[in-house]
Amino acid sequence: MSNKNVKVEIEGKAWEFPVIEGSEKEKAFDIGKLRDQTGYITMDNGFANTSTCKSAITFLDGEKGILQYRGIPIEQLAEKSTFLEVSYLLIYGHLPTQPELDKFTDDIRYHTMLREDMVKLFDGFPRDAHPMAVLGAAVCAMSTFYQDSLDPASPEQVNISITRLMAKLPTIAAYAYKTSIAQPRVYPRNDLDYCANFLNMMFSVPAEPYKCSPEVVEALNLLLILHADHEQNCSTSTVRMIGSSAANLFASVSGGICALWGPLHGGANQAVMEMLQAIHKDGGNVGKYVALAKDKNSDFRLMGFGHRVYKNFDPRATVIKKACDKVLAKMGLNNPLLDIAKQLEAAALKDQYFIDKKLYPNVDFYSGIIYSALNIPVNMFTGMFAIGRLPGWIAHWKEMNESGTTKIGRPRQVYTGPTKTNYTPIRERVGAGKKVA
Ligand code: ACO
Repeated sequence: MSNKNVKVEIEGKAWEFPVIEGSEKEKAFDIGKLRDQTGYITMDNGFANTSTCKSAITFLDGEKGILQYRGIPIEQLAEKSTFLEVSYLLIYGHLPTQPELDKFTDDIRYHTMLREDMVKLFDGFPRDAHPMAVLGAAVCAMSTFYQDSLDPASPEQVNISITRLMAKLPTIAAYAYKTSIAQPRVYPRNDLDYCANFLNMMFSVPAEPYKCSPEVVEALNLLLILHADHEQNCSTSTVRMIGSSAANLFASVSGGICALWGPLHGGANQAVMEMLQAIHKDGGNVGKYVALAKDKNSDFRLMGFGHRVYKNFDPRATVIKKACDKVLAKMGLNNPLLDIAKQLEAAALKDQYFIDKKLYPNVDFYSGIIYSALNIPVNMFTGMFAIGRLPGWIAHWKEMNESGTTKIGRPRQVYTGPTKTNYTPIRERVGAGKKVA
């Protein structure tokens, strides 16, 4: 807390509110006493100007295109780290020593299997269910199978829940996929690392062994690192909101998965791919789609473009674009959708509409092309994002749970409905709330 105040004048009377300054010099003023003192509340559609917590996990500067996990630039982590190391960093606050990383990795390896009674869940869902629906339901169901670790006040129970979630989410995602294509589910293999094990569960069949190339493992590792956290986004805020009622970690993360599913958030990676496929099928005329995205009479948006916070460039998109070229070259693939994506990006970046509105490609613009190169089906893209975002959700839930200052999330509203109205007996009603004269 700084010793500065901000003065606000309401109806001729001045009020002072304390200024809070972050470690990267971000400034806020604390309106915790606003309503008590002035009778006013604030209105902030989409929380675009509102922080509800202090957080030491991730810093991003949307104007400068900076993203850092625990102070470390995303570009360095993408180049030098692994997904599990980054997960440890986010959840426990520092880069692990070798023994710390070994223990974290071994604990996760040891918990990758699902209980056999939990596996039966997958047969209960329709085969064509969206994997995100299955993921959200299965993670929530973990609170029925692991009732021994639901207490947010017990550090031991929280820790075992963290391990179980990190270990089992890839298994859940792969089982959702295998069930959807009527193939046998493949047990996890603890001799493989995190990414290789996931790919093996996705793509191996009992009839023949599956061998994935190191390039594929490396690309997956990179994508998961880039998605691992992004401070108070929609799904993370959902996890915090649910957790603020002291709900258990499984229930909170399950809510985060559901929030991520929407096409304006994590579901954008699936929407981007579907958009690129549609443009390809339509003859590859990118100009037509750029025009459509600008047309006020059309609902069409360029999926994978724009971001609430980044108004310059999304640093994750820069890393992904480079990786995309590298992965496709290494794998000897030539994806026509990558050409369409590049043309679309070039056309939009020099278009005045996109320049004026500061709309740039976001992380999801190119991620789908890499996922396709790894043979991940389009309807699993958002599930991949969920696996990547899991350590971020956990880190935020844990930070909030341990802060000792958290209040239950309970926004206010400005009521605009009818003022006090007497109850009308049914015979006197004429519909739409009107009374018989
Ligand atoms: N294509 C065309 N126009 C757009 C786009 C787009 N992708 N994104 C925003 N705009 C326009 C809006 O129409 C609006 O125009 P207006 O001021 O004339 O009404 C203006 O830009 C501002 O858009 P908002 O929706 O108000 O911006 P907001 O910050 O609320 O939304 C969002 C950000 C949801 C990401 C938006 O840019 C969007 O819908 N993008 C496409 C979906 C997408 O890629 N989502 C993934 C985000 S990254 C992530 O979650 C991992």
